[in-house]
Amino acid sequence: LASIEFDLSKVQLGQQVVVKWRGKPVFVRYRTPKEIAEAVHDDHADLRDPQTDAQRTKPGKSQWLILVGVCTHLGCVPNFGQGDYGGWFCPCHGSVYDTSGRIRKGPAPKNLAVPDYAFLSDTKVKIG
Ligand code: FES
Repeated sequence: LASIEFDLSKVQLGQQVVVKWRGKPVFVRYRTPKEIAEAVHDDHADLRDPQTDAQRTKPGKSQWLILVGVCTHLGCVPNFGQGDYGGWFCPCHGSVYDTSGRIRKGPAPKNLAVPDYAFLSDTKVKIG
């Protein structure tokens, strides 16, 4: 299937659900206000792959962060809630991603990718 629909009402605040899309894990994360504030605060930090948090989310829906859960180094699946930036940590070689999924430390060259997606309603998203 090229695209999938996902029901966001299954995800609690502060929680992440992993869905499969085109054989890859996709992280659907319902971010807390603190996570969003940290991400926006670091928009102009010294970023390896500069992107603002707003470029990685949809207008008015910044609580939802949707990412391809594949480390941009060599493709391992990073874990949430570890690492120095409140986001993801890749156990393979130690890349650290922030609460926007941006690469902050370690060997990965790029931010966690944001797949194409669209909100079909407040509770339904189409990925792909
Ligand atoms: Fe993630 Fe190497 S695959 S740091």
